[in-house]
Amino acid sequence: MYNFSELNGENASQYTHLTYPSYVKFLENLTGDSSTVAIGAELDTSPVGLILAYYVSSSDNSDQAYGQILSLFVVPEHRHQGLGKELLRRMETALKMKRCAEVELRYLSSPSTIALEEVLAQQNWSSPKTTALICYGSKINVDQTKSRHLVKYIDKLTAKLPQDYEIFFWKDLRLRERQIIEAQMATDSLVRRFNPFVEENELEPSNSLGLRYRDRVVGWVITHRIAPDTIRYTQMFVHPENQPLSRSTLLLAKAIHFQYQGATTKATFRVAIDNEPMVKFVHRRLAPYLYEIREARLVTKLLDTNH
Ligand SMILES: CC(C)(COP(=O)(O)OP(=O)(O)OC[C@H]1O[C@@H](n2cnc3c(N)ncnc32)[C@H](O)[C@@H]1OP(=O)(O)O)[C@@H](O)C(=O)NCCC(=O)NCCS
Repeated sequence: MYNFSELNGENASQYTHLTYPSYVKFLENLTGDSSTVAIGAELDTSPVGLILAYYVSSSDNSDQAYGQILSLFVVPEHRHQGLGKELLRRMETALKMKRCAEVELRYLSSPSTIALEEVLAQQNWSSPKTTALICYGSKINVDQTKSRHLVKYIDKLTAKLPQDYEIFFWKDLRLRERQIIEAQMATDSLVRRFNPFVEENELEPSNSLGLRYRDRVVGWVITHRIAPDTIRYTQMFVHPENQPLSRSTLLLAKAIHFQYQGATTKATFRVAIDNEPMVKFVHRRLAPYLYEIREARLVTKLLDTNH
């Protein structure tokens, strides 16, 4: 018989392998007054399933809160026996007790998605909404494309780039240029959205690039090292006045080429689904370099806190 219980500071440490490494800290800090709820399923004292959520008070109505399910996991040998459904049902009840009026779950499409979406549909969650594509590429994939595919593309676009444009390594950004971009971020929401200074401590110097037009910085591809073998392409931007799109794709192609010439074998990036030109570009041009495209999806449910 499976046993379900809300975890506390003492027993939560046995469940750390049932969530993502970045969420282990939530399990380690479970106290009665933390904003985290963890519900475990066990069989003969062995942990076999875990659902983890956290909640915050609504800014406009302090009496109510908003919940977010961080992870739901059932060990493979115990799947298809109703554990996932029961963990989710119990979490909804626990969050209602914490006065959560709404709860959300964000996940990446995977082989488990059919089961997860079945559980969610049965418990009357909203239909899944795709918010972004998460793409994974590798040097092996670049090798497998037609020979010199990438170099040819760079040559073609470089030939079209007017002479008053210059591509440079982002690490060589001048202080004055940085100050101008910072000032633009204060007034221009587009520049703010593609903030080139995010996570500067992990900036990857070998292929983060900028684009100058007549001594003004008008674009960038900013990458970060997220693992010894993986570079994330975090921001890609060319100011609308300095488009066409081919200017940003030239920057991107150059950045990919610099990575290809180096030792880092894997790459990943995220494209918001409402960025239609880029979504098309991924399918038309980048697909040969990718070994996987996953969808980031969002589901929500309103909880009736009066019952
Ligand atoms: C998603 C997950 C938690 C489901 O756990 P589970 O214990 O197998 O779920 P349940 O047994 O409650 O099954 C739920 C429903 O999905 C259905 N289902 C399960 N696998 C299915 C499949 N491959 N195809 C179609 N339906 C499937 C079941 O039939 C069941 O419905 P039913 O009770 O009406 O028959 C589990 O697969 C898992 O841990 N996956 C890896 C982690 C993950 O992706 N988590 C979600 C994001 S954080």
